[in-house]
Amino acid sequence: MDAREMKIKAAEAALAHVEDGMRLGIGTGSTAEEFVRLLAEKVAGGFRVEGVPTSERTARLCVELGVPLKSLDELPALDLTVDGADEVDPALRLIKGGGGALLREKIVAAASERMIVIADESKLVDTLGAYALPIEVNPFGLVSTRMAIEKVAARLGLSGELSLRQSGDGEFTTDGGHYIIDASFGRIPDAEALSSELNSIPGVVEHGLFINMAALAIIAGPAGARTLQANR
Ligand code: 5RP
Repeated sequence: MDAREMKIKAAEAALAHVEDGMRLGIGTGSTAEEFVRLLAEKVAGGFRVEGVPTSERTARLCVELGVPLKSLDELPALDLTVDGADEVDPALRLIKGGGGALLREKIVAAASERMIVIADESKLVDTLGAYALPIEVNPFGLVSTRMAIEKVAARLGLSGELSLRQSGDGEFTTDGGHYIIDASFGRIPDAEALSSELNSIPGVVEHGLFINMAALAIIAGPAGARTLQANR
């Protein structure tokens, strides 16, 4: 089974949690897109959902495939969000933001009763941090914000390259008009502490650590999809 087939398996298993009439947060990335494709097939068959997309990219795919969309202001409380992740640890802490949509993803997940993460097994790790942590920052004061990130990281014993994400011939810009710093810490033993330290930096808009957000993770491997449940 190749990576795409595993993503489809995880997406199929997540679809089983979607009920007719649900208000649904719809994630971003290649795994979430497999979910959108399967959802669109059900919608074409008469299944009713209203989706809130977590990015312009996801919104475009939903429109193309006929998945009905609303804004988060129109549907401010959602039943379920289904989204991918860059890393998932056994406590269902996540690194997200590889696709640059972490701010809207976090807002939408926080507005949802439940979040289900879908991923292939390459995303499952013992400790977060091998994947560079995306940190969304305001372009104003970029150098100061970067220094502040280095400082809090050092306080927590973390170091590594902080690289400003590029796209084409300029900085990558998020749907919200911000930049992303990818922080290669290597290993993040205390994700909770790093999360709250990063949240205390004014220039940090949001970061890709999702803690206590996912209720279930559906992880697909060659033998099929298995579900991990958060212990809370
Ligand atoms: C986008 C994300 C994605 O969910 C994450 O990058 C995983 O993407 P993919 O399913 O393509 O591996 O957080 O901001």
